[in-house]
Amino acid sequence: MALKENIQSLLAQVEELKANNAEELEALRIKYLSKKGEITALFNEFRNVPNDQKRELGQMLNQLRQEAESRINALREQFEEAAAETDRLDLTRTPDPIALGTRHPLSLVREEIEDIFSRIGFTIAQGPEVEDDKHVYGMLNFAPEHPARDMQDTFFIEKEIGVQKPTDVLLRSHTSSVQTRVMTSQKPPIRVLCPGRVYRNEAISARAHCFFHQVEGLYIDKNVSFADLREALLYFSKEMFGPETKIRLRPSYFPFTEPSAEMDISCNICGGTGCSFCKGTGWVEILGCGMVDPNVLEACGIDSKEYSGFAFGMGVERITNLKYRVKDLRLFSENDVRFLRQFESC
Ligand code: DAH
Repeated sequence: MALKENIQSLLAQVEELKANNAEELEALRIKYLSKKGEITALFNEFRNVPNDQKRELGQMLNQLRQEAESRINALREQFEEAAAETDRLDLTRTPDPIALGTRHPLSLVREEIEDIFSRIGFTIAQGPEVEDDKHVYGMLNFAPEHPARDMQDTFFIEKEIGVQKPTDVLLRSHTSSVQTRVMTSQKPPIRVLCPGRVYRNEAISARAHCFFHQVEGLYIDKNVSFADLREALLYFSKEMFGPETKIRLRPSYFPFTEPSAEMDISCNICGGTGCSFCKGTGWVEILGCGMVDPNVLEACGIDSKEYSGFAFGMGVERITNLKYRVKDLRLFSENDVRFLRQFESC
């Protein structure tokens, strides 16, 4: 019966185990549970116990070992928690630096454009990215066979997954679609700026991407003239690129404006003397513009005899390249913090 009493007295000891630090705790573990420990010694004695007592004493021994293990583990956890607590409470420790996020360069430039036009009365308008043919092309005077509608350029959305059927649901390929949305829902005078993402079926490279950003402008009122367009764009260019900036308008063609033009600014890198950026010409193209075609006004329910207007559209990536020299379009969507951090102070 000596074994039974030994087990009972050890169990009583184990229940009361106390340690003041990790070293004392380790000493307790060795005392009871190591190969030469007291509990292990009882297990050795257990081999000599007569068979009829094995069951009872075996259970008691196992209980003793479990109790010792769980008591020692509980004490260990207490020490670990206390250590973490002291760490947390070290008021002299240098705090971890707060990682500040940075503004995305495209957002910085878009907001600057919005800001400049808001100072001359433009408000912001938004439209859907998933659009229909009517708002992106039809009402903007694109002939049905116009190449911009071609599958090469526009992402059409299949109505049934995997089934290619002719569809008029598409991802907008330009923000001019917001013009038609605004003109059909608001009455003139209209003065809106429409920033947003556009999609084109292009192979991704440094100079082309399947999505990018545009800002569209639209002004409709009585007696709006080409001179108003020119002054608004000159004001914008000087605000954006500096007071020395000059502009030049070259005749061009867009289905939704007549007359249409493309606008260059004097190269803001060489100041117009000619460099590799402007290919020695002193000018860089930044946007398309023109007087809203009367067909577009009529398609949107605006009387073209009473009202006229101008529109323009520019690529945000292009302006960002001019402002911050970001040449590779892919950088804008890779979210590499080494790139984004460079705009920390902007
Ligand atoms: N939508 C044209 C494009 O994506 C840009 C544009 C040109 C917009 C002339 C206009 C405009 O409003 O008048 O290339």
